[in-house]
Amino acid sequence: MQTDSSSRREIGVFDSGVGGFTVLRELRALLPTARLRYLADAAYAPYGSRSPEDIRARSLAITEHLIDRGAGLIVIACNTATAHAIDALRERWPALPFVGTEPGIKPAVAMSRNGRIGLLATPATASSARLRALIARHAGGREVVVQGCPGIVDHIEAGDVDSTELRLLVEHHCAALRTAGVDTALLGCTHYPLIEPLWQAALGADVKLLRIETAVARRAAELWTPTPGQPSLEIETSGDPAALQAWIARVLGWGELDVRACCARKEPA
Ligand code: DGL
Repeated sequence: MQTDSSSRREIGVFDSGVGGFTVLRELRALLPTARLRYLADAAYAPYGSRSPEDIRARSLAITEHLIDRGAGLIVIACNTATAHAIDALRERWPALPFVGTEPGIKPAVAMSRNGRIGLLATPATASSARLRALIARHAGGREVVVQGCPGIVDHIEAGDVDSTELRLLVEHHCAALRTAGVDTALLGCTHYPLIEPLWQAALGADVKLLRIETAVARRAAELWTPTPGQPSLEIETSGDPAALQAWIARVLGWGELDVRACCARKEPA
């Protein structure tokens, strides 16, 4: 592992798969000269149906790889990994800055007029102690309807962002929020903004949707000290590089980006 801090020129960004591109998009806009490395842990997606131990083990293995490649800042572009692994990562690398991704309960409370807030997240985030603590700390006694949404990430990972099957699943997961009459809903998974129109249609035009990725990128920009050298973007996956390359071109329209294979063999402990 490189230890010379002058060689720590990259910002390492990771997610279970393609969701973190919503954060990466903001990072590229805010820090156009940065050297960015994005790792999609596609072979282990979705994290949302994995155990906390698996999520931690994968987050540790991936962060180690990003540090090996020269990361001086790690952006966890994944609510699920933040919920279950950020404490372990900070404990393992106490000198390295980490930026996590967590639903913006505070802004949602400030924005809501009727005090009823919905939160859509992966099952693993929805059941996490960290989310419970976040709500207890910031909701100020307001009602937060937390809905775990199994299945959504699988569709998005497969490149489906608008099928009838996905729309029905989105409607199903929004039912409890509609019944509760929420006027503000948090997209608590970085994959979810990729299908924002479907959430909006299912919840109704009057419900305000809140996303977090711009705030995450801003926090990263605050912590990042620009380093000399050319800007760059490296994309890696533990899954199939050709499939990810095709997904990026089709869904993000980013054109021909080189995608490399990595980290596939490090099984969760
Ligand atoms: N995009 C991730 C999140 O923000 C993880 C989704 C998953 O793999 O289940 O939670």
